[in-house]
Amino acid sequence: MRILVTGARGLLGYHLTKVGLSRGAELFLTARGEAFLSEVPYQSADLTDPEVVQALVQWAQPEVVIHSAAMTLVDACQENPFLCWLHNVTATRYLLGALQALRPQTHFIFVSTDFVYDGFPVVRRPYVEGDYEAPLSVYGASKLAAEAWVRHYPGPWAIARTALVYGIAPTAARDNILTRIITQLRRGQSMSLFTDQFRTPSWAHDVAEGLWLLAEKGAQGIYHLSGPDIETPYSFGQAIAQVWGLSESLLEPATEREWRAPAPRPPYSPLSIEKARALGYIPHSTQEALRQIALMQPEL
Ligand SMILES: NC(=O)c1ccc[n+]([C@@H]2O[C@H](COP(=O)([O-])OP(=O)(O)OC[C@H]3O[C@@H](n4cnc5c(N)ncnc54)[C@H](OP(=O)(O)O)[C@@H]3O)[C@@H](O)[C@H]2O)c1
Repeated sequence: MRILVTGARGLLGYHLTKVGLSRGAELFLTARGEAFLSEVPYQSADLTDPEVVQALVQWAQPEVVIHSAAMTLVDACQENPFLCWLHNVTATRYLLGALQALRPQTHFIFVSTDFVYDGFPVVRRPYVEGDYEAPLSVYGASKLAAEAWVRHYPGPWAIARTALVYGIAPTAARDNILTRIITQLRRGQSMSLFTDQFRTPSWAHDVAEGLWLLAEKGAQGIYHLSGPDIETPYSFGQAIAQVWGLSESLLEPATEREWRAPAPRPPYSPLSIEKARALGYIPHSTQEALRQIALMQPEL
C-alpha cells in the first residue's frame, strides 16, 4: 500500500515514519524541510501552493494519505489567523482537491485535535466522537474547518483527534511539553504548569501506531487517538520529574487565569478512546510511556 505522510519532519510525522518503516509500509514522505532518511522517498513541498500539491500527489500516487502537516503553535495561530487558516485549512483543501482530481479512491486520514472542543462539557466526562464541537481558539477553529472539508471529500476518509502530543523527534523544529520540562528542570530553572487544564497526553509513538491502524483497517469516520490517562500539565510534569529523577520542587502550580496566553485553551478536554480501542488501539499509560522514552533516550 502506497502511503503519503505529510508533516513527516514534525513530532508526529517522525514517529509515523518510524512506525511505518517497522511495519514494512511503502512510504512517501513530505514536509517543507530537507529529506532526513536516505532510504525513503521524500519530496520537499509547501502545501499552501496548489501546483506543488498536485505535483506531490502525482509523484506519490498514494492509496492512503496521513495528513499530519499543520501550523501547530496555538498562540502563533491566534496572533496570525490568516496564516493559520492558510496552513491548516487551505492546504488541506488543496490536498483533498488534488486527490479528488487525480486519485479519487485514496483513503484520507486527517490528524486533528482535542481543541475542537470548548472544554466546558455539560457532564464532566471525556469527550466522545460526535460530541458537540465549539473551538475557543483560532487554531481549534482552523482544525475544525479543515475537518469540514474532509467530511465533504467523496472518497474514504477518517479524522483522528489527538491531544497534547509528546515524545522525541530529532527532525522536529519545535519542542513539546516533555522536552520543555526536562530541559528546564535540568537547568535548575523553575517552571509554572497549569493545574486547571485537563488533557489526555499522548505519546507520539502511540498516536502513530493508532494512525497506522486506521490506515490498515481502512477505518472511516471520527476517532479519538490519545493516551489513556487524564493529567493536568502539572501532574504530567510531576510524572516526568519522577521518571527522570529531577526536582519536583522546581514545578510551580499555576492557573490559566493568572497566566493569560494569547489563545484561550479548553479547561477540560480529555478524549475517550473506547472507539479506537475497539479497533485494536492500545496506548501506553503515562507512566509506561515515560519509562519507555527514558529507557530509549536516557541522555535526554
Ligand atoms: N503537538 C500536539 O500537541 C498536537 C495536539 C493535537 C493535535 N495535533 C496535530 O497533530 C499534527 C502533528 O503535530 P506535530 O506536533 O507533529 O507538528 P509539528 O511538530 O509542529 O510539525 C508540523 C509539520 O508540518 C509541516 N508543515 C507545516 N506547514 C506546512 C506547509 N505549509 N506545507 C508543508 N508542510 C508543512 C512541518 O514541516 P517542516 O518540518 O518542514 O517545517 C512539520 O513537518 C498536526 O496536524 C496537529 O494539528 C498536535
